[in-house]
Amino acid sequence: MVVDNSGMSIQLSNGVTMPPIGLGTYPVYGEAMCKMIVDGWDSGYRMIDTSDNYYNEEDLGVALSRLYEARNAKRGDLFLVTKISDELYPVNQPGAGTNRGIFFWKSSPMMQSPTAVHDIISRKIERSLRSLNTEYIDLLLVHRPYPDYIHEIWAEFERFYKQGVVKAIGVSNYHARNIEALSSCEVLPMVNQIEVSPLNTRKSLIEYCRSQGIKVMVFAPIMTLRTVRDSAYHDMLQGLSKKYDRTPAQVLLRWNVQQGLIPIPKSTQRSRLEENIAIFDFSLEDDDMSLIDSFNENRQYVVESKACPGF
Ligand SMILES: NC(=O)c1ccc[n+]([C@@H]2O[C@H](COP(=O)([O-])OP(=O)(O)OC[C@H]3O[C@@H](n4cnc5c(N)ncnc54)[C@H](OP(=O)(O)O)[C@@H]3O)[C@@H](O)[C@H]2O)c1
Repeated sequence: MVVDNSGMSIQLSNGVTMPPIGLGTYPVYGEAMCKMIVDGWDSGYRMIDTSDNYYNEEDLGVALSRLYEARNAKRGDLFLVTKISDELYPVNQPGAGTNRGIFFWKSSPMMQSPTAVHDIISRKIERSLRSLNTEYIDLLLVHRPYPDYIHEIWAEFERFYKQGVVKAIGVSNYHARNIEALSSCEVLPMVNQIEVSPLNTRKSLIEYCRSQGIKVMVFAPIMTLRTVRDSAYHDMLQGLSKKYDRTPAQVLLRWNVQQGLIPIPKSTQRSRLEENIAIFDFSLEDDDMSLIDSFNENRQYVVESKACPGF
């Protein structure tokens, strides 16, 4: 079943519109990627999230070519999101072979040249465009704050945005203080992609983003189904699941969109892809939204940064 969510687009601060839900792609590769992208399209997903450090942009590019052919879809029908990250792989830079990666740290030998940030980001964007087989990226995110180069990286993002190679720019895993560091920049982030779950509701950060006109995308929106052992939590989800005749994943995803958040669940299973997007025809009552919120304990599941001094 295709879920038509086109009438529910989210408008970014620069007027660009994006779908209200997207498809995560980590860790999906090869044939599994091709199948997921076509199944995702058939189920109604029009936004796809990847990153340079998932090392699957090329696989996604191949999958997109298959999709265009198999379903007569066009690039313009899709909203592609990718990210710029520290990476373990060399990126064809002088000295990359010895440094075994790109790290946005003051102490990284890769960052010693005055044009390092410019060169790295240009090359990465070129590579993403090539891999994804596209002339533009709909939304480009800084994967983490990288505090040593927060301004330099953002200045490069602004430059590519102004050139039109990327239609919208944003950040990921940024706290309010990291966003505040960009407050004097000409273009403010349009999106912040963060972890949000009932155990980590991020209310004050979400409120701050709202006050700045920044839309919040949510990664790992249903991961708590797998990672949480607390039976009271699962009992609560089961109770709501029964009440609304929806699955626990649908309850979680509905809790996201009802707050104006944009979730990007990943599944390689067709039935789950369909399940996860079928959330626009019911609402949770206010009391049930509050009940879910009441499980907050500021528990972060994804490690925000292993390699980011001063984060
Ligand atoms: N910006 C960042 O730092 C960051 C960090 C992490 C992730 N991300 C992005 O966010 C996307 C989503 O996050 P995530 O993949 O970590 O977590 P998620 O989408 O919340 O959960 C994915 C897991 O849940 C399973 N699943 C999917 N639908 C289900 C359902 N209806 N019922 C039960 N289980 C279900 C999936 O298995 P099956 O595939 O077998 O269905 C998979 O194991 C990633 O793919 C990536 O694109 C970004």
